[in-house]
Amino acid sequence: LKKVTTKILIEMKKRGEKIAMLTAYDFLIAKLLDEAGIDVILVGDSLGNVFQEHETTLPVTVDDMIYHAKAVCRAVKRAMVVVDMPFLSYQVSLEEAIKNCGRVLKETCAEGVKLEGGSEIIDVVYKLTSIGIPVMGHLGLTPQSIHKFGGYDVRGVDEKEAEKILNDAKELESAGAFSIVLEKIPSGLAKKITETISIPTIGIGAGPFCDGQVLVVYDMLGLFEEFKPKFVRRYAELSKIIRNAFENYISDVKSGKFPSESESY
Ligand code: KIV
Ligand code: NA
Repeated sequence: LKKVTTKILIEMKKRGEKIAMLTAYDFLIAKLLDEAGIDVILVGDSLGNVFQEHETTLPVTVDDMIYHAKAVCRAVKRAMVVVDMPFLSYQVSLEEAIKNCGRVLKETCAEGVKLEGGSEIIDVVYKLTSIGIPVMGHLGLTPQSIHKFGGYDVRGVDEKEAEKILNDAKELESAGAFSIVLEKIPSGLAKKITETISIPTIGIGAGPFCDGQVLVVYDMLGLFEEFKPKFVRRYAELSKIIRNAFENYISDVKSGKFPSESESY
């Protein structure tokens, strides 16, 4: 049971071995993921959407991330745990970024933090990696900038934006990032980035040429039903199963079929 580390992820890219990453926000899912052999568990700030039911990820706090990361950490033995830094926890100043990211590493088992953005946050990334806080980048569709973009469209379609994303990826690599999430960009651009940089790219809606893939766990389990972008493949329809169980329980209680004699003392 060899622990997955930043070093192992970079070796996996060299070997051409794909990296499987999914999100988790609680102990039970994290345990199932770890036992199944997932490489990386991301405590994503997507919990703002799928757990807290906010419209965006903006309201999520560092305390929220630490609370969920602690629950995940109790379950994980093998996977690498990466924790998303929420909006405004790393943009205000280097000092605040170090304090907030440092808190996540000190108070949870996180072995890395994920930050959205490229050149805009490069000083922070450089500083964090130089003091021993591993950083995963996140480019393309960066949901914390949703109000700037004005929507969840594919990024990097026009040449100028594509070039900026490629340059950001190179800058993140130079600043010491160990990996980069590429969200909702054309697969050709993701391929070019993946071939250009030596650290692994993890795609979500970024096509098959990335070094790894990530999905939001509640999406791929068919638990979060609100919307389904085409890059989400549903590996289960858990909402249907759970709804069915609840309906059966309610009807058994109402009809007196539950509990039976063997379920009683
Ligand atoms: O918050 C999240 O779950 C993410 C992944 C979708 C990459 O950032
Ligand atoms: Na996120």
